[in-house]
Amino acid sequence: MNFEAFILPHICNLKPYSSARDEFKGKEGVFLDANENPLGSGLSENWNRYPDPLQLAIKEQLARIKSCHIDQIFLGNGSDEAIDLIMRMTCRSGVHNIILCPPTYGMYEVSASINHIEQRKVSLKKDYQLDVAGILQSIDKNTRLLFICSPNNPTGNKLTRSDIYTLIESYKSGFIIIDEAYIDFSDEPSFLLELATYPSLIVLQTLSKAYGLASLRLGMAFANPTIVGLLNKIKPPYNIGGATQEIVVKALANTKFKDESVDLILAERANLINRLSTISDVLQIYPSDANFILVNFNKATDLFHYLIDSKLITRNRSNVALCEDSIRITIGISEENDKLVELITQFYSA
Ligand SMILES: Cc1ncc(COP(=O)(O)O)c(C=O)c1O
Repeated sequence: MNFEAFILPHICNLKPYSSARDEFKGKEGVFLDANENPLGSGLSENWNRYPDPLQLAIKEQLARIKSCHIDQIFLGNGSDEAIDLIMRMTCRSGVHNIILCPPTYGMYEVSASINHIEQRKVSLKKDYQLDVAGILQSIDKNTRLLFICSPNNPTGNKLTRSDIYTLIESYKSGFIIIDEAYIDFSDEPSFLLELATYPSLIVLQTLSKAYGLASLRLGMAFANPTIVGLLNKIKPPYNIGGATQEIVVKALANTKFKDESVDLILAERANLINRLSTISDVLQIYPSDANFILVNFNKATDLFHYLIDSKLITRNRSNVALCEDSIRITIGISEENDKLVELITQFYSA
C-alpha cells in the first residue's frame, strides 16, 4: 500500500526546522549554540538547556515496554497534539474528510474544526458498537482518517475486535487511528502489535491515565517509521519539555505503580458497580473496559448538580446523543467511591 499518497504534498516536501540540539547531540562541551542562559535557572535544578527534540531516553524505555522499535514511536504534548498533527499532515480543508463515531472523545471533532476539516459522523449503534456498514458507506476517495476509540470515551466499552479488522481490511484510502488511551484497563491486546502488518494504522496511547502522569502531558503515537518521521518533521522542535522528559524516564523505569494502580482501580470499579446496582434509580450501568463507568440515572442532571453542590465532580453526558440521562464517573479511591455512593443514596432518599 502506498500510504504516502495520503500525506499532503507540501508536508512530504517540507524542509523542517533544524534546531541547535539536532545539529550537535553530545552532552559534554561548551554550549554557545542555542542562545540559552549559561548561568542556569536560579533554582535548585537547572532547566536552562533545551531538551532532546526527539526524546530518545523516553523512547528507549517505551520501545522495551511496548515491544516495538524506537522509530515507530512519536511523542506529543499529550495525545491531543498527535491528533492535531495527524490531521494537519493528511487533510486539506475543503477537500478531505474524516470519519468520527460518536459518542466519542471530543477532541477529534474540535481538532478537525480548528483545521476546518469536514467531519462525517457515523454514530455508534445502540449497543455502543461500531456501525461497520454505515462507516464503509460514508467513506469516499477523500476520506483520509477514520478515528476509532477503544475502549471508547465516554461509553467505556471496548469495540468489537473483528469489526475493527473488517474496517482495516476494507478501508484503503487513508489512515485508521485507534485511540487506546484506556487500553491499560482492558484485557484486550493493543493494536500496536499489528503495525507491521497494517502500515496505515496509527495507534494512540497516553501516560495521562493508568500511568498517573496527566499533568506532564505525554502522549504517544505508534506508527510506521515513515509516518513517525513526518510527524517529527512537523511538530514544534521542543514539544516535550525537559522536566517532563526527566520525570517520565524515572516513572517508566518502574512500571509497578502503574500495574498496582490498574489492579486497584479495577477492583474499585467492580465494587462500585456492585453497590450502584442495588440503587433502584440507577437505571443502567454500561460495561466498562476503562477507569470510568457511564451510568444511566433517573434525573441524571439533577443528581449531577447535587453532587457538585457537595464538591463531588462527575461528568454529565446527558446532552450527548445516545448518552441521555447519563453521567460518566471516574473510578476514585475507596473513600471517594464511598462518598459518591453515600451522596447518590442521599439524593434519591430526599
Ligand atoms: C480517548 C482519549 N484520547 C486521548 C485523550 C487525551 O489524552 P492526553 O492527556 O494524552 O492528551 C483522552 C483524555 O481524556 C481520551 O479520553
